[in-house]
Amino acid sequence: MHPLLEKEHRQLINLLDALDKSILKGYSVNQVHKHLDNFVALAGDHFKNEEKIMEDYKYTDIIDHKKEHARLLEQLRTLQSQLSKGQTPFGKDYIQLLRNWLEAHLLDADNKLEEFLYQINADSDKKNR
Ligand SMILES: [Fe+2]
Ligand SMILES: [Fe+2]
Repeated sequence: MHPLLEKEHRQLINLLDALDKSILKGYSVNQVHKHLDNFVALAGDHFKNEEKIMEDYKYTDIIDHKKEHARLLEQLRTLQSQLSKGQTPFGKDYIQLLRNWLEAHLLDADNKLEEFLYQINADSDKKNR
């Protein structure tokens, strides 16, 4: 697995766990918002890094993959603005939704990219998957 992508994927899951915990423990809206902001910031950085790798290695499926990133970020930003207006019913279902899309993206689009990087031997180690 590509080491940078692997590291960032792990960080995204950790931040999602932190967000989850902050909601379960009934933290204030400000604290929940802070966790969400961290998650969105890391997702944005990670998508940029991943897209740079796709460009560097001339990944064939780059257009669709980028579209999916853009769509995910847009959804996250909508949620951020809803939360700042106090509109989001922040609960277990909401986190499950975030988890579902993150896992679906990691398992599908990102997995295909990993497969491609592995095929062309780009800094990827299948044994670590
Ligand atoms: Fe991705
Ligand atoms: Fe990714």
